[in-house]
This record gives sequence, C-alpha cells and structure tokens, in this order.
Amino acid sequence: MSPASKKRLGILISGRGSNMQAFIQACAKQQLNADIAVVISNNPNAAGLELAEAAGIATQTVDHRLFASREEFDAALVACLQEHRVDLVILAGFMRILTPTFISPYAGRLLNIHPSLLPKYPGLNTHQRALDAGDSEAGVTVHFVTPELDGGPPILQARVPIEPDDTAETLASRVISQEHSIYPLAASWFVDEQLTLKDGRAWLNGKALGPTGIDYASHTQ
Ligand code: GRF
Repeated sequence: MSPASKKRLGILISGRGSNMQAFIQACAKQQLNADIAVVISNNPNAAGLELAEAAGIATQTVDHRLFASREEFDAALVACLQEHRVDLVILAGFMRILTPTFISPYAGRLLNIHPSLLPKYPGLNTHQRALDAGDSEAGVTVHFVTPELDGGPPILQARVPIEPDDTAETLASRVISQEHSIYPLAASWFVDEQLTLKDGRAWLNGKALGPTGIDYASHTQ
C-alpha cells in the first residue's frame, strides 16, 4: 500500500497511554500498516501525551471540563478527528462516555478495548469484580463501539488465568500485556480491510463473529 493510501488512526486517551504506545510500536514495526494522525486527550495531564510527542506524533487536548454538554464535547472531538482526516478511531483508556454525536459519524470505524471478557463486567473495576465473583479466568476484549456502553460487538478476546493470590493490580498487569498484543492486531484487520461492522455484528473475512468474537489463543495456534 502506498503511503498516500495508508489508513490514518486517531487515538483517544485519558491517562498512561500504554495501549497507545503499543500502537506506536506496531506501526514502527509495520505490523500495522497505518499512520497515527493524532493522539487526543480529554485530560491535559495525561502521561500518554508526552509519550506521543516524544514519538513525533501530533497531539491535541480537548478538555471536557470546558464544554457545557457531552454533545458539545463530542462535536469538538469529531472536528479534531476530521481536521486530521482520521479513518479509524482507537479508544485507548479514554474515560469519557460518548454520545451519538461522536459515535454516529464514526460508526464501524470506532474501536475500544475493555479489560474484561465481555459481555461480563461492562463499566469500571472489572478486575476486582472478577476476583469478587470467584472467577477462574479474566481477560480483555476489543470491540466495535455502539451507543451501549461496552456493549458493541466483540472482535477479539484474550483470556488469562486468575491465580489464588491475585489482587486487582496483579491481575491487571497480567491482562495489560495481552491488551498490547490484541489491540493492534484487531486494528490491523480493519486496516487490511478484513474487518467490518454490518447488521450490528462484527465480520472478519466475510464471516460473522460470535458473541465473544475471536479467541486470541485459538487464533495464534
Ligand atoms: C486499559 O486497561 C484498557 O483496557 C482500559 O483502560 C486502560 C488503559 O490503559 N480501557 P493505558 O492508558 O492504555 O495504559
């Protein structure tokens, strides 16, 4: 693919940005044939902004506290993404609930990563909830974003075991290393035009995926 036809990614963060960093590395290693056009944060103090700048990537802060409503904030995000001609939006630890003002123009071009085996544990504190429930495994899901919070069609999941002495922190660190593998991989399927959202389902290479998407372990076997 010529550089002119490379897909342009917009990555939205609120904090540390380790998933964003995984995208920077995947692009550098050409595991992901895309350019990161812009990294946007709602939080001016997000550590990930400095990482992006150090990598020579354009950054923008759109501070949600400066907007009177979620819709106005979302419209400002859309304007920023359009200005940078973004084809695919990557939510990477972006801690704001998005409205249809944002989701509609990017429907089918908007991915999120959620640290649970969806449909289990949408929302916050996923690792503690998995521990409290006595689950034997946890994991992470990449999914298309729809207006239902963490409810869009799953694309790819990775599972990790829960060990008897796990805390939310030890479990999170086991999960995050999987996040860094599966998120750029799922994005590469989109960039390579293998992945689409159609009729409310994720499709990979013309096949509708099931309610939990592809299992990473079986995919890599
Ligand atoms: C990750 O656990 C991700 O699954 C969740 O937010 C966290 C972001 O971490 N949505 P980072 O900023 O990418 O390091």
